[in-house]
Amino acid sequence: MRALVWHGKEDIRCDTVTDPQIEDARDAIVRVTSCAICGSDLHLFHNFIPAMLPGDVMGHEMMGEVVEVGTAAKAALKVGERIVIPFTIICGECEQCRRGNFSVCERTNRNKAIADKVFGHGTAGLFGYTHLTGGYPGGQAEYIRVPFADRTHIKVPNALSDDQALFLGDILPTGWQAAINCDIEPSDIVAVWGCGPVGQMCIRCAILLGAAQVIAIDCLPERLSMAEAGGAVPIDFKTESVIERLAELTGGKGPDKCIDATGLEAHVSMTHPDSILDRGKQMMMLESDRAHVLREMIYVCRPAGVLSIPGVYSGLVDKMPMGMLMNKGLTVRTGQTHVNRWSDDLLRRIEEGQIDPSFVITHTVGLEDGPEMYRVFRDKQDSCIKVVLKP
Ligand SMILES: NC(=O)c1ccc[n+]([C@@H]2O[C@H](COP(=O)([O-])OP(=O)(O)OC[C@H]3O[C@@H](n4cnc5c(N)ncnc54)[C@H](O)[C@@H]3O)[C@@H](O)[C@H]2O)c1
Ligand SMILES: [Zn+2]
Ligand SMILES: [Zn+2]
Repeated sequence: MRALVWHGKEDIRCDTVTDPQIEDARDAIVRVTSCAICGSDLHLFHNFIPAMLPGDVMGHEMMGEVVEVGTAAKAALKVGERIVIPFTIICGECEQCRRGNFSVCERTNRNKAIADKVFGHGTAGLFGYTHLTGGYPGGQAEYIRVPFADRTHIKVPNALSDDQALFLGDILPTGWQAAINCDIEPSDIVAVWGCGPVGQMCIRCAILLGAAQVIAIDCLPERLSMAEAGGAVPIDFKTESVIERLAELTGGKGPDKCIDATGLEAHVSMTHPDSILDRGKQMMMLESDRAHVLREMIYVCRPAGVLSIPGVYSGLVDKMPMGMLMNKGLTVRTGQTHVNRWSDDLLRRIEEGQIDPSFVITHTVGLEDGPEMYRVFRDKQDSCIKVVLKP
C-alpha cells in the first residue's frame, strides 16, 4: 500500500510499504478514506520529539471503513462499518481507562517500560507518534491496523460526511478538553494563543461552553480572520503588544482563563527576546522546547485563573516563572486528549448542528501530495490552515 513515511528531519515521502495484517485477536484493519496532517506531525517533521525511526508511517487523525476484524473484536465491530480512529489507543479495561483518562491507558503502549523510564510514567499507545508511544504505524496511509479495535473506535453515522466526522479523532476533542479544563463560567474572558486548527477548535468550544468573551492571538491574517468569524476578538502579536491589548480588553484584570494552543514551537521573533534565547538553547541542545507562550500566559493571567495547555511540549524548558505562577495561585491543566471521553457528546453536537468542525479545512489532496503539503502547512503558504488527505 501507499503511505507517508518518516525518513528523517524534514524528510517525509510517499512510499510503498507492506500492507498491515491482523496481529492480535482484538485488531481490525481499516481502509482509510480520509486523514489529516496535525500540528503535532510538524513537531515530528522537525524532529523535536525523540524516538522516530526511518520507515515509521505518519498520521494520527484518520477515519475509514472496517475491512477485517479479529475474532475478539467481532462483537464490537463489523466489516463495512465506518469509524473514526481516536489517536489514543485504549484498552477500555485498565484503571485509567475506567476513569476516562484514556490518553494514559496503562496497557496499550507496547514500549511502556522505556516510556516510564523517560517520563516517569508513559502515555497510552498513540498512532504514528514515535516509539516512546508504542511505535504504532499511523494513518496517513491506504490502510491501518487498529490494535484494541473493540474499544479504539468511534462509529460514524452515515448522515455525516468524512469532513464533518474526521476531527472527532483529534483536534475537536482537543479543543473541547482544553475549554472544559478552563472550568468556564459565564463572566469568563478566555484568551487562546495560537489560531491553528487546534486554536480554532478551542475558540469555538470556549464559546459553546458559554465564555463571555474569547480573545485569539496569532500573527497570520487568515487564521485571525477565521478566529474572528468564530466569534473571537483577534490580537496580532506581530503588530500589537499582547500584554497591552489583553490589559485593555480585560479592564486591566487579565484573562480569567488562558489556553496554549501553540506548543513547543512558538514563533521566534525580536519582539519576544526569550524566544531567541530558547531557539539558541534548542540549537545547542540545552533546552528542547520554546516556552514563550507559557511565560506570557503566566504573566497575564488573572490571579486564581487557569492555564489550559493542549499545546504539545516534549521535554525541558528553562526560565519558567514559578514564583509568578505560585503567588498568583494559578491552576495548570494539560495532557494528550482523552479522545473517547468526549466523543459521544461531540458526535451529538455535530449531528445537532451545534458545531461543524469541517470549517477549518483549507486544502484537500491525494496521499501522493502529502510530502509537499507538510511543507505548505509548515510554511503557512497558500493561506493553509488544515490539510485533509484522501488516500
Ligand atoms: N494535547 C493534544 O492531545 C493535542 C492534540 C492535537 C494537537 N496538539 C498540539 O496543539 C498545538 C497546535 O496544533 P495546530 O495543529 O493548531 O498547529 P499549528 O502549528 O497549525 O498552530 C500553531 C499556531 O500557533 C501560532 N503561534 C506561534 N507562536 C505564537 C505566539 N508566540 N503567540 C501566539 N500564537 C503563536 C502559529 O502562528 C500557529 O498559527 C501543537 O503543539 C500540537 O502538537 C495537541
Ligand atoms: Zn494531533
Ligand atoms: Zn486502558
